[in-house]
Amino acid sequence: METTLVILKPSAVQRALAGKVLSRFELKGLRIAGIKMMQLDEKILREHYAHLVDRPFFPSLLRSMMATPVIVIALSGLDAVKVVRSMTGATNSREAAPGTIRGDFGMSGQENIVHASDTPENAAVEVARFFRPEEIFDYSPLVMPAVYASDEINR
Ligand code: PPS
Repeated sequence: METTLVILKPSAVQRALAGKVLSRFELKGLRIAGIKMMQLDEKILREHYAHLVDRPFFPSLLRSMMATPVIVIALSGLDAVKVVRSMTGATNSREAAPGTIRGDFGMSGQENIVHASDTPENAAVEVARFFRPEEIFDYSPLVMPAVYASDEINR
């Protein structure tokens, strides 16, 4: 099983969408491995968005991500990175397909409700960036045999 990082951004918190968005992931069958609210600062955002620091929109992205606390969530499941990315939709919410989180709830590229890790390698780095090891929980929900076939459960 893979674990991926989701951030419910200030756009989700401000608009009271946290419960609705988290519920989508739970209903899909993803397991909550870690969850907490935190106020991001410039240091962690410069690390998290290191590939974007030279982009003209970076100062605005910084302000946006620090506008309120965010909710960070570690989600586990088979192919969790790919599954979560397909559920979030395209970065620009106006271009995100209906049925995706951004497609259903957003109108913006910056105020796009969620961040989701894009590769398994980045997911491992991002989960470790936002969670201490003891904040990530390994447990097996009773519904597992109804969510996965027996040969999928231990992958
Ligand atoms: S890119 O443009 O392909 O390099 O961007 P990407 O790696 O997908 O990350 C884009 C993140 O920056 C936020 N953001 C914007 N993107 C595009 N255009 C504008 N103007 C912009 N402003 C902010 C965007 O929300 C993406 O954040 P995450 O958290 O990765 O979804």
